[in-house]
Amino acid sequence: MEREEPRPVDTLMHGLRVVRKYWLVVAGVTVAAGAGAFAFTSTLPKIYEAETLLEFDPDVIKPLGNKADPIVGWSAIWDTREYYETQYRIMQSDRVLSAVVRDLRLEKDKGFTGSKSDEGISSESAIAILRSRLIIEPVKGSRLVLIKIQDPRPAEARRLSDTVARTYIQQNLDKMVNATGDTVVWLSSQLDHFKQELEQTENALHEFKKKNDLPSSTIEDLSKMIRLEMQEFDSALSRTRLKRSELAARSAELAKITADNPDQIPASELLSNAFLSGLRVQYQSASRERAELTAEGKGQTHPAVRKADEKLGLARSQLLGEIKNIQAAIARDVAVVEKQESSESALYENARKKAVELNLKELEFHRLDRLRAQNEKLYAVLLEQTKEADLRRLMNTNNIRLVDAAKEPHSPIAPRVGHNVAIAMLAAVVIGIAAALVRDQLDNTLKTPDDIEQRLGLAFLGLLPQIADEHAPASAARRVPRRLRRSASSGSAAGAMAPELCVHDKPTSAIAEAARAIRTNLTFMNPDKPLRRLLVTSAAPSEGKTTVAVSIAISLAQGGHRVCIVDGDLRRPRLHRIFGRSGDRGLTHVIVGEASIEDVAQPTAVPNLSCIPCGAIPPNSADVLSSARFRQVLDAIGDHFDRVVIDSPPVVAVTDSAIVSTLVDGVVFVVRAFGTSASLSRGGLRALRDVDAPLTGAVLNAVDFDRIEYSNYQLAYYKREGYASHDSTHPDAVETAGAAVSS
Ligand SMILES: Nc1ncnc2c1ncn2[C@@H]1O[C@H](COP(=O)(O)OP(=O)(O)OP(=O)(O)O)[C@@H](O)[C@H]1O
Ligand SMILES: [Mg+2]
Repeated sequence: MEREEPRPVDTLMHGLRVVRKYWLVVAGVTVAAGAGAFAFTSTLPKIYEAETLLEFDPDVIKPLGNKADPIVGWSAIWDTREYYETQYRIMQSDRVLSAVVRDLRLEKDKGFTGSKSDEGISSESAIAILRSRLIIEPVKGSRLVLIKIQDPRPAEARRLSDTVARTYIQQNLDKMVNATGDTVVWLSSQLDHFKQELEQTENALHEFKKKNDLPSSTIEDLSKMIRLEMQEFDSALSRTRLKRSELAARSAELAKITADNPDQIPASELLSNAFLSGLRVQYQSASRERAELTAEGKGQTHPAVRKADEKLGLARSQLLGEIKNIQAAIARDVAVVEKQESSESALYENARKKAVELNLKELEFHRLDRLRAQNEKLYAVLLEQTKEADLRRLMNTNNIRLVDAAKEPHSPIAPRVGHNVAIAMLAAVVIGIAAALVRDQLDNTLKTPDDIEQRLGLAFLGLLPQIADEHAPASAARRVPRRLRRSASSGSAAGAMAPELCVHDKPTSAIAEAARAIRTNLTFMNPDKPLRRLLVTSAAPSEGKTTVAVSIAISLAQGGHRVCIVDGDLRRPRLHRIFGRSGDRGLTHVIVGEASIEDVAQPTAVPNLSCIPCGAIPPNSADVLSSARFRQVLDAIGDHFDRVVIDSPPVVAVTDSAIVSTLVDGVVFVVRAFGTSASLSRGGLRALRDVDAPLTGAVLNAVDFDRIEYSNYQLAYYKREGYASHDSTHPDAVETAGAAVSS
C-alpha cells in the first residue's frame, strides 16, 4: 500500500506537536543553559577597552613633494588605500609594539602578563600579548582610525592605548625626519660637487679671457667695437678711392686740351678756378680780335694782325701754362690720395683679421660660458632644495595627528552577561527543538491508528489502552520500557488481579470498552462469514499478544459466544497462569493423544470462556503445529466452541505463528504503541503475507491516552470510567465504543 505524501501543513502541525510534547524538556534545558551562561559569564574577568583617535593626512607623505601629485583618479585612491593599509599594519608591527613594551616595561608588569614570577616574560611574549589586545579600527568613510586596547584594568587600558598611539606617531615622525635628513645629506654632497664644478668652469672662463686678452667687458661688446672700426675703415677707404678716381678723371679731361684749342677746358675746372677762366677769356678775346682783323682783309703781315698774333700767342702760352700747373697739382693730389688709400686698406685688413680671430675665440668663449651657466643653474636649484629640505627637517612635519587621547573606560565591554545568557538560551531553544525533532524522526515506532493504516497497510481493528498501575504487581516485566512496564507473569497467583483479566473484572473500564470495540469491528468485518478461528500474533516478543488475545476472548464471551482461548505459544506459554490454572495438561497432550479436549478445556472465571493451556512444552513446536494432528485437534475444538482464539509466539522469531495462520479464519496483528518499530512490524507482516495468512487487521496495544500524539483522536470515551453500560452485552455499548475508535 502506497503512503500518501504528507502535506506541509500536516508536517508543520506534527512539528508543533513534537515541540509541545517536549516543551518542558526544551524549557528546562533553556533555563539551565541561561543559568549556566549567567554563572559562567559572571565568573569571567571584566575587560575594559580604551581608544585613541588618530587622523591621517596622506598628502604629506613625500619628503620633497610640495607640488601637486600628478596621479589622480582611481590610482590615487588605490595609492591612498594602500597607504592606509600599510599604516594599520605598522601600528601592529613589532617595531611599534616592542617600543611600547620597552617604554612601559610590560614584560615585567605582572598585571599585564598575568605571570606570578618576578622574572617576567620574554619581550616577544609581551609583544604577542599586547598585539592580541590591540584592535585597529578604521572609522569608515574618513581618514580617522581608532587604536583600541583591551585590558582588565581600566587605567592600564587607557595608558596602553595612549602609549601605542604616541609611539606610532613618534616613529612616523622619526621616519619622515630621517627621510628628509637623508635627502639633506645627499643634496649637500651634490651641492659641494656642483660648487666645485662651477668654480672650475668660472676659472676656465677667466683664464681664457686673460689669455686672449679679452677686456673685462663682454666679448659681444668687443666684437661690436671691431665691427664699427671695420665699418669706419671701409667707408674711409671708399671715400679715398672715390677721390682718386675723381682726380684721375680731371687729369684725363685736362690731358685732352691741346695747343690748338686751349680754351676747351671742362666747365668744372673753370668754375673752381677764376684765374684760369680769366686767362681763357683773354685768349678768346685775343683770338676774336685777330679774326676781326683778318675779316677786315688785313693780311698776315699786317702790323695790326701781327700785333694781334703776338697777343694771341701770349694769351695761349699763359693759358696752357696754367693748365699744366693744374695738371701738376692733380698729379700731386693723386699721389697723396694713393698713399692714403693704401694705409686705409691696410687698416681695414687689420681690423678684418682681428674680427676673424675674435670670432674663433667667441665660439670657445660661449662654450665655456654655457658650461658655467649650466653649473650655476644646477647649483642654484640644489641650493634651494637643500635649504627647503633642511627647513622641513627643522619644522618636524608629521602627517599623523592625535585627535582624541584615550580616556579611562568606566564600564567593561566584556563579559556581556545579558548578551551571553540570551545567546545561550536561544541556542538551547534551537538545539532543544532540533533535538526533539531529530528524536521524533529517529523514533520509528508505530504510535497511532494512522500509522497502522498508512505505514503497515493494515485495517485498524482497535486499541487496548495502557492498563493502569494498580493492576501491576511489583515484579513488572523488565523487557518492556519503564512507562510500559506492567504486571508480568503471576497475575492472580499473588492475590492481585491479573491485568489481562481487566476486561472481565472491570467491565466498565476503558480497556473493556476498547476490547468491545475490537470485538465489534471483528464482528462487522465479515458479517456473513464470522471469524470463528482467530490467531493473535505480533512481530516481536512482549508486544501484548497474550493480553490482546485474552481481552478479545473475554469480550467475545461477554458477547454471548462460547469461546475457547488456546495457548498456541508452545515456547513461553502463559495463559494458564493468567487464568490461575495449572499448565500440566493442555494442547500438546491432546495432539499426542494423551488427553481429550474435554480434559484440557476448562472453564474460567469468565462465563462462556474456556481455556486450553499449552501443556508440556515440546522441543519441536513448529513440527507439532504443522502436523495434521494439530489441524484435527483445532477442528475438534471448533466443534466444541463458537469462537476459538489462539495465542501465539512472535512471528519474526519463530515460524509457529505463520504455520498456524494458515489454519485460521483471521489473524489479529498486535502492535505495541511506542514499542514496536515500523520495520520490525513490516518484517512480521511479510512472513505472514508470504504464507497468505488471512490478515484481518491490527490492534494497537498499550495506548497511553495522555500522550500528545493522541490529541487528535477522540479517545476521551475510553478514559471516562463507567461510560459503558454495566451490562456489557448491551449492543449499544459495543457500538459506541467501536464508533469512538473508528472516528
Ligand atoms: N495494554 C497493556 N497495558 C499494560 N500492560 C500490558 C498491556 N499489554 C501487555 N502488557 C504487559 O506487557 C507484558 C507482555 O505482555 P504479553 O505477555 O501480553 O505480551 P506477549 O506479546 O504475549 O509476550 P510474549 O511474546 O512473551 O508472549 C506483560 O507483562 C503484560 O502485562
Ligand atoms: Mg504471549
